[in-house]
Amino acid sequence: MPKATITFEDIGITVTVPAGTRLIDVSEAVGAGITYGCREGDCCTCLTKIVSGHENLAAPSVLEDQVLKDNLAPRHHRLACQAQALGGAIVVKPG
Ligand code: FES
Repeated sequence: MPKATITFEDIGITVTVPAGTRLIDVSEAVGAGITYGCREGDCCTCLTKIVSGHENLAAPSVLEDQVLKDNLAPRHHRLACQAQALGGAIVVKPG
């Protein structure tokens, strides 16, 4: 199974996860600082900056895309509860 590495800049930890893992689940597991609310792609609380490797995340769903637009999300920001790692290296900056 393909694997991805995710680095959380706030705590300086890199973890290897199976493809398909959502950022929020990893953040929670390692104690990184991504805050969240609904976990359903609705509240936008989990908006997270993807420092690098955004191309290694699955493309946003229609729902995520809409929420990002509605909240004027800056470029290369994703909803951590929706964004799934596909492979390669991904660096995120919580907070
Ligand atoms: S936690 Fe609500 S959109 Fe991600």
